[in-house]
Amino acid sequence: MLVLGIESSCDETGMALYSTSAGGALLAHALHSQVPMHQAYGGVVPELASRDHIRRVVPLLRQVLADSGRSLTDIDAVAYTQGPGLAGALLVGAAFAEALATALERPSVPVHHLEGHLLSPLLSRRPPRFPFVALLVSGGHSQLMRVTAVGEYELLGETLDDAAGEAFDKTAKLLGLAYPGGPALAELAERGRPDVVKLPRPMLKSADLNFSFSGLKTAVLTKVRELATISEQQRADIARGFQDAIVEVLVSKALRAVALSGLKQLVVAGGVGANRELRRQLDARAGKAGIAVFYPELEFCTDNGAMIALAGALRLQSANSDMAGKVAGAFAVRPRWPLHGV
Ligand code: KG4
Ligand code: ZN
Repeated sequence: MLVLGIESSCDETGMALYSTSAGGALLAHALHSQVPMHQAYGGVVPELASRDHIRRVVPLLRQVLADSGRSLTDIDAVAYTQGPGLAGALLVGAAFAEALATALERPSVPVHHLEGHLLSPLLSRRPPRFPFVALLVSGGHSQLMRVTAVGEYELLGETLDDAAGEAFDKTAKLLGLAYPGGPALAELAERGRPDVVKLPRPMLKSADLNFSFSGLKTAVLTKVRELATISEQQRADIARGFQDAIVEVLVSKALRAVALSGLKQLVVAGGVGANRELRRQLDARAGKAGIAVFYPELEFCTDNGAMIALAGALRLQSANSDMAGKVAGAFAVRPRWPLHGV
């Protein structure tokens, strides 16, 4: 079965072809990032995002067909991100996918964006096996989930305010870094000195598995305001202090979630999963605890079509695929959509 995956929930248009034959393989994937377009505004402009997705979907589809040597009629199902995300951006992918599925007389598969992130490590050369605990850290979400099987997700903990990626982006802005701030702040932090700027570790010791990151951003704001002028080294030290604090909380809570679950595997997914310090700390501490950590390939950490094609294919194959294979016709997007209970 050949599944086309379409991602358009935010500022990246992703397209991919995944084949379930021979144990499953990603045949082609293509991505167009809108980052340069939104950079002038310091963040994502939803209306511009929607319009750009419209421009990109057809060329990207042509590209993945050419790269894989397949034709439109080879496609057996069309998966797309139904939510959560920006309503207008989601509508572009949904309308395109549903129209294509109707024209091809194939099933459409609406996919939850976070389910795509959650399952993305299954695309890597060394995939995890069900069940596992997942730390999902993106721009809009920070959650710990117990993943028993495709479609069986139990929420263990989540952020009470800002998501980890959001905290990275907002703090980066405070330090004068360009959008998208997360990767830029991580790069700056590499030049910072440890323990020069000590920041709080919010909810590190709380009994639950929840997070809270908005106070950390405020602590950085206070530090920046205390300084009349800020040198490059001071900026790097603050970035380092911020990253060390957020990483310590994420690592501690993720490892505690795995310990409480009685499982031995942790999957890290979502844009913040690309953070090198997070990976370093997790690998070091998980190794000591006998926990195996799995990451998606770096290019599949942030938004992409491959994870949507994969999630769509697994949904179609799975026994609990009540959302898959519906007859195309009416459709809706879900800008707000909790993953647990999907
Ligand atoms: O998963 P993603 O591409 O989109 C959402 O679904 O939100 O995640 C994007 C988020 C952004 O907040 C971005 O700043 C953050 O992931 N991010 C990073 C890094 N790369 C991306 N944060 C910290 N370190 C990174 N290396
Ligand atoms: Zn995402």
